[in-house]
Amino acid sequence: MSMKTISVALLASAAAFTVSAAHAEGDLNVICSADVVICEQLETEFEANHDIQVNMVRLSSGESYAKIRAESRNPKTDIWWGGTGDPHLQAASENLTQEYKSPKLGDLHEWAQKQAESSGYKTVGVYAGALGWGYNTDIFKDKGYKEPLCWADLLNDELKAEIQVANPNSSGTAYTALASLVQIMGEDEAFEYLKNLNANVSQYTKSGSAPVKAAARGESGLGIVFMHDAIAQAASGFPIKAIAPCEGTGYEIGSMSIVKGSRNLENAKIWYDWALSPEVQSRMKEAKSFQLPSNKSAEVPPEAPKFEDIKLIDYDFKTYGDPATRKSLLERWDKEIGAIAN
Ligand code: G6P
Repeated sequence: MSMKTISVALLASAAAFTVSAAHAEGDLNVICSADVVICEQLETEFEANHDIQVNMVRLSSGESYAKIRAESRNPKTDIWWGGTGDPHLQAASENLTQEYKSPKLGDLHEWAQKQAESSGYKTVGVYAGALGWGYNTDIFKDKGYKEPLCWADLLNDELKAEIQVANPNSSGTAYTALASLVQIMGEDEAFEYLKNLNANVSQYTKSGSAPVKAAARGESGLGIVFMHDAIAQAASGFPIKAIAPCEGTGYEIGSMSIVKGSRNLENAKIWYDWALSPEVQSRMKEAKSFQLPSNKSAEVPPEAPKFEDIKLIDYDFKTYGDPATRKSLLERWDKEIGAIAN
């Protein structure tokens, strides 16, 4: 290419950039349901690359679903990024979110595309991660506790008040735990298990990752969380070991949806396509967000727990993301576990 051709090409791309930047001015109201550090990283990066002002709130997955539902007649949110897939699927079934087929869809792993197809393209997978727990190795060693390798080990008497897990009404992590146990054990047995586990639970937190943050700081011994959240604490220097339960475990397809009636729809689509790009997903690890990215070309962080190494159940997203199933499991949890919670 001659110098002249290059400068003409540069001018043309600069002009195209000006047009798209002008077109993209305005606001974008985002609910972010993952850890606050990755939420803030995404906000900063997006604003640095677009002429769009992001107004972001961080809410747990169940809370986000409830907010979008409450706003449905007068939507204030444009896009909902992250958080477990089940409430995104529920929102899709209830027509609270809107169809969008991103040009990036074909670049995603099959599990992320399946999430989109099964919702009529009202949500899409942005990351995946397996459920497990993290325990404080110093506390377990000092107190002489047995290493907790299986769900059954969490019922040991010695762990009284040593465990934290979130409340499945607010937290997608805790709902994933509930739905996984139901799939592993059967519903009645899972509730029996949770009643027994309650004797060892000191607190049901609002956010899903809070339990392992408490364990990291020595406020409790163990937090039931996504394994990548346990690894994030270990990577920050805390004495936390991540465990994949021996009986098997469930996983999340962290998802993203555009809210139906979004007032900044064009900007929401710009965020959506951007958030599915390999560049953005590859940088998630900088926020110690060690999930598996959905774009096939994104770099998988070496810290990310690999699905091949974990005994994963064939999590039934269709059933457990269905409004009726989710409502009935949460009602039963409130009646049988919430009511006896400390
Ligand atoms: C953490 C995890 C995410 C997960 C989210 C769910 O941030 O890193 O992978 O999607 O928790 O949050 P919640 O508070 O709804 O359990």
